[in-house]
Amino acid sequence: MSYPIRRADVADAPALQVLFSCPSVVRNSLQLPYPSLSHWQTRLAELPDSTHALVACDAEDRAIAYGALMRPPQLRRAHTASLALAVHEDWQGKGVGRQLLGALLEYADSWLGLTRLELHVYADNERAIALYRQLGFEEEGRLRADSFRDGEFVDGLLMARLRGPLAGRS
Ligand SMILES: CC(C)(COP(=O)(O)OP(=O)(O)OC[C@H]1O[C@@H](n2cnc3c(N)ncnc32)[C@H](O)[C@@H]1OP(=O)(O)O)[C@@H](O)C(=O)NCCC(=O)NCCS
Repeated sequence: MSYPIRRADVADAPALQVLFSCPSVVRNSLQLPYPSLSHWQTRLAELPDSTHALVACDAEDRAIAYGALMRPPQLRRAHTASLALAVHEDWQGKGVGRQLLGALLEYADSWLGLTRLELHVYADNERAIALYRQLGFEEEGRLRADSFRDGEFVDGLLMARLRGPLAGRS
């Protein structure tokens, strides 16, 4: 199945508030529980040009997944971006995440010319790690107790995907 993908818009705020309220999304992201609608309205209205945010949609054009490339301000890191991805709980395991991640990679490769994409993932998020590995990300390091989640400190992994002249670099 194919899901329409488009740029995120302020009108997506209600759908993204719901998406980022899903327990598995809260648990596996760095967001806090109980996001407000105004938080998402402001966030989407004030997205900087350095953030490229896409959504995958259902048949009613409702956002069911959110993904973003965030470019750093430093010019010497202009070839990089960090990546975020989340799928509404009702739509997980149906290929939405793979499709949206593929669109983000295509955007980064073919339109922004980025050669290094990086991300943070919890070390126990097997589903996400499997997907990232399949699409070319490799683990670069383990961040011990770098986040607080549901009452305990947990480890994160840094993963990155290098391409072009950087590919294969050890
Ligand atoms: C992780 C996440 C983005 C994956 O998106 P998804 O739409 O659920 O995944 P897909 O259906 O596209 O599956 C892609 C791959 O994920 C892996 N996967 C999917 N379901 C899985 C499961 N139950 N267990 C382990 N791996 C699984 C598989 O490698 C799968 O590839 P395959 O279809 O070839 O088997 C999504 O589940 C999610 O948003 N989870 C909560 C928030 C989160 O973890 N975000 C990532 C933060 S770094």
